[in-house]
Amino acid sequence: MKLARRRFDCLVIGAGGAGLRAAWQLAEGDAQVAVVSKVFPTRSHTVAAQGGVNAALGNVLPDSWHWHMYDTVKGGDYLGDQDAIEYLCRAANRLVIELEHAGVPFSRLPDGKIYQRPFGGQSQAFGGAQAARTCAAADRTGHAILHALYQQNMRAKTHFFDEFFAIDLLRDASGATLGALVLEIETGDLLVIESKTTLIATGGAGRMYRTSTNALINTGDGLAMALRAGIPLQDMEFIQFHPTGLAGVGVLITEGARGEGGYLVNNTGERFMASYAPQAQDLASRDVVSRAIHLEVAAGRGCGPRGDYVELKLEHLGEEVIAQRLPGIRESALRFAHIDPARAPIPVYPTAHYIMGGIPTNRFGEVVAPERHGPEEPQPGLYAVGECACVSVHGANRLGGNSLLDIIVFGRAAGNQMLAALKAQRYHRPLPEEAVERALARVARWERPGTESIADIGSELRQVMEQFCGVFRRQEVLDEGVKRVRALRERLAHAGLSDQSRTFNTARIEALELENLIEVALATVVSAAARSESRGAHSRVDFPERDDAHWLKHSLYFREGETLDYKPVRMKPLTVSAFPPKPRVY
Ligand code: FUM
Repeated sequence: MKLARRRFDCLVIGAGGAGLRAAWQLAEGDAQVAVVSKVFPTRSHTVAAQGGVNAALGNVLPDSWHWHMYDTVKGGDYLGDQDAIEYLCRAANRLVIELEHAGVPFSRLPDGKIYQRPFGGQSQAFGGAQAARTCAAADRTGHAILHALYQQNMRAKTHFFDEFFAIDLLRDASGATLGALVLEIETGDLLVIESKTTLIATGGAGRMYRTSTNALINTGDGLAMALRAGIPLQDMEFIQFHPTGLAGVGVLITEGARGEGGYLVNNTGERFMASYAPQAQDLASRDVVSRAIHLEVAAGRGCGPRGDYVELKLEHLGEEVIAQRLPGIRESALRFAHIDPARAPIPVYPTAHYIMGGIPTNRFGEVVAPERHGPEEPQPGLYAVGECACVSVHGANRLGGNSLLDIIVFGRAAGNQMLAALKAQRYHRPLPEEAVERALARVARWERPGTESIADIGSELRQVMEQFCGVFRRQEVLDEGVKRVRALRERLAHAGLSDQSRTFNTARIEALELENLIEVALATVVSAAARSESRGAHSRVDFPERDDAHWLKHSLYFREGETLDYKPVRMKPLTVSAFPPKPRVY
């Protein structure tokens, strides 16, 4: 088949904050950069990030990057790699100021400095009083950052392929990545993009759950591409449930609402977080707050006619604070629940939010995928950043405000590493036709009708993940979850597209996305069924304790044979002493 071809130095797949931060670095470094995005770039999911980005600027309360590092290690329940966490926290101040200079309209303090709000899991002086570390543009920080990064890319002449869907990576027999096959959604035309370096920045897969804060586009496309290329996924059992999704809807109600002084109550009006986290209370780490809400509802202390949510109270903050600091969540509450938070509490319940795991990388964004039991080797030409990557800075539970930081710190680092690689590689490597043929087969598979419906399998998958791999987990339930996801994958093999639906590429894209989601769901539930301890967001009722003796290690899930391997956590930071594991209380 004769296909159109384009060549670039660098291909970035995904135009959220991570992809755009990397692309900006690359374009400023004089590389020819292509960004492929399945939606118009400023509709990428970063736009939905609300509360802010962490940096120890100390504008409101005393702060230090070292305290931030401690909180991040503890928040991740000691599973994060401490060298990467030190790098993240040390880089934060400089890169947030750089964002400000790039045009991000941060909210301001009366003295003109960037406004910072308290967020969950933040402390001063290594576990002391609450810190205020989250730099905010009202409750639309992601929107502000994404737009500024897009504008910088426009200025730097990054080449955008808007509304193009990446089908698969193109790799040669040695495992070097040479670009990707992409599909233009409007026309269905295929395009081979050859690149010397390829960055996966496709975000998360929250859409494998029924209720989720995630955009419809978060279907794990890059994660599944990596799996199909033989690369394992790391720590996939760790799924973050955000405590305050709008009940029944899942839409995000920012942690910033509690940072501004909001609090949770049960059906007796009790501020129940005091019993679960006596010191931090409503600003405990997210896994702790999500579990507390679940337990309150399970104990019959939920609110509403069915007792299936708790309430977030903000009325006491007053009109002015809500209008100034939380305008977006007021809009969401009004639009989706017909509630004005200045007058009545918001019904909330935990909702799938973020994947701590992902494609294993080092802190330069290089994909380091070991063979089973083998050494960690960078995969030639392949990089990953953002939610689809696992550096790992978030360990078993990410702190709020650290995801926007992750994308700017590691987006920049990956860009620099790719520029260095370009210096050593002047020409494109030859692209074997078999690589293109393999990727084409993925599209051709959807050229025939089938007996199963894509929509039915998709909705069952979301139901299964919610029921069998949620906030609280146990062995029999997870094992059943594995069986059910496998059965859905089997059914998907019998699904197809009718002649009529094939004429609309949206149906084709939905099928390709569901294939991706099922791969990622299986990685998640298989990894979760194997980890017999509770750590961070992975909460096993049958193994309620953290078990450092056996489980202080990262999981690696391989698609071939659905097998697992493990690798050690890097406990040694770059320059400071390690934070050894200790009981995690808030
Ligand atoms: O609650 C929030 O605003 C979410 C922030 C985050 O996930 O970092």
